[in-house]
Amino acid sequence: YNDSNNNNNNPLKKSKNSSTTSTTTTTAPNNDLDDFVLEERQTSTIFLIPSDSDEKYIDVWNSEYVKLPCSKNNVYKSTIETTSRQPSSASLSSSTSGVSTGDVKTVTEVKYLSKWYLINTVLSNPIKDSEALEQTIKSYNKHSRWDFQGLHDFFECELTESETKDFFSNTLPKIIKLALQLPFVCPRPIPLLRKSVDREIVLSQKQIASLMANAFLCTFPRQGPYQKTSNSDSYPTFNFNSLYSGSMISSRAAKLKCILHYFKTITEKIPNGNISFHRQVFDDSDIPDWEKSTAYLRDLTAFAEGTIEDDGIGMLQVDFANKSIGGGALGYGCVQEEIRFLINPELLVSMLFTSILEENETVIITGAQRFSKYKGYGHETFQWDGPYDDKTPKDQLGRRLTTIVAMDAIKIHGNPFQQFSPNHIERELNKSLCGFFDRVSVTIPPPIATGNWGCGVFGGDKHLKSIIQLMSASQAGRDICYYSFGDQEFTNELTNMVALLHQKKANVGSLYKALWEYYNLMSHTKSNLSLFSYLDAHFS
Ligand code: AR6
Repeated sequence: YNDSNNNNNNPLKKSKNSSTTSTTTTTAPNNDLDDFVLEERQTSTIFLIPSDSDEKYIDVWNSEYVKLPCSKNNVYKSTIETTSRQPSSASLSSSTSGVSTGDVKTVTEVKYLSKWYLINTVLSNPIKDSEALEQTIKSYNKHSRWDFQGLHDFFECELTESETKDFFSNTLPKIIKLALQLPFVCPRPIPLLRKSVDREIVLSQKQIASLMANAFLCTFPRQGPYQKTSNSDSYPTFNFNSLYSGSMISSRAAKLKCILHYFKTITEKIPNGNISFHRQVFDDSDIPDWEKSTAYLRDLTAFAEGTIEDDGIGMLQVDFANKSIGGGALGYGCVQEEIRFLINPELLVSMLFTSILEENETVIITGAQRFSKYKGYGHETFQWDGPYDDKTPKDQLGRRLTTIVAMDAIKIHGNPFQQFSPNHIERELNKSLCGFFDRVSVTIPPPIATGNWGCGVFGGDKHLKSIIQLMSASQAGRDICYYSFGDQEFTNELTNMVALLHQKKANVGSLYKALWEYYNLMSHTKSNLSLFSYLDAHFS
């Protein structure tokens, strides 16, 4: 291993890590970490060396990079007690202690041993069923109190005998092989997408497959949930153990089917594309004076039928995210973000390196492949519905032309009217602009496929949120296709409202003022006038 464990020897030391500067960084074709950053541009791109390179693994263990299970710093404590009749005259090291009873001496020696070696050793034994898988995972996660009941139930009740047999005899050995290839597949350290740092990393699908295999086998050193690192960022948890616990509810079984299908597909033939993850950070100069904005309103076409992922091909597809990216994808959640992360499972890897999003940040992910179809929605009805053959073409970087933006809306607590207050509205305008604004494209950016952002679990008002998204999309110069998720009445209302706004030549600034006035009016009267009725009267 090539060792590089302090921040002074930071591969990104030539990049600028401030919220006001974004950088482009690409790996050098050699092993010298000083050459890691090749150039600095408008946005940051870090190319990890392709999987089949014969680069030497560079071991980094600090707060700038993902702590990989294969690091030599990933150790566990082992205490060995030896009892001897004749105490040795050799001096004891500081990690040993001796207790003498007569001429019998017990020596306790503390050693820190390589966890990766242990993981390699235990994973080289055959695993024939879920009980053995549990024992294996627990042997290198000794202090965990993880429960695997859900996993046992899954193999017992959800799969046929031959599917289970195929998994343990065919797919699992390949997952293990892929996991253990990690230091060869990811020889370069993976930079964290830390708060306030506008940075983009590009991973190959093979690298992601190896990281996913490690998460499936729960080999990552503990990093969450919400565990603080020394740089005070906090990260979601990426090991899949929470998917295996509890009694198996049907939506959890559907999630596992999505994951198993992903592994079955990629272990048969590793896909050869790339996926980029861009943490887009806005600073004050990126935020417009909304009231004074003269940006004209772009088109918004509303559809009652269709979904963002099925019908938003080629558009910027919105992920109704949690500030902790992925939300409950590996746990209990089962709504838009979680479903998206299960049908495009490579999105899950963002949980490994994306710290909790701040108000002025979003994550833009390009290239994730869709592997599964699904039926239903939420815990009651979500089901895996077979393989999805993703034929989306790729760009020059080898990324599928599917771009997804993770942007978290405000979760409404208490009085729902507060979401109409100017600071709530500005927060949502700024967040969605940070998601929609395309700093990278030199061509006209494609439209946005969105819908009831923040209006499900987060309890927002769809009339307000649709207008906010229209304003920020217009500010970013993009049209919207709005999928109202089966709501024909709202689709008609929104279509009529947008037609009126266009007819009356409303712009972003005039809409912003109208929202203010609506808030003032409603704060001072007991009226129950709806927002759309107000806008209708205001602009007519
Ligand atoms: N296409 C279009 N619209 C959809 C789709 C789809 N595929 N799926 C759902 N909708 P929600 P939020 C509509 O509740 O309120 C997660 O746990 C549907 O009308 O997922 O922003 C995250 O991790 C639905 O009611 O988004 C966060 O923690 C509405 O979109 C939290 O939920 C909102 O979907 C975010 O909650």
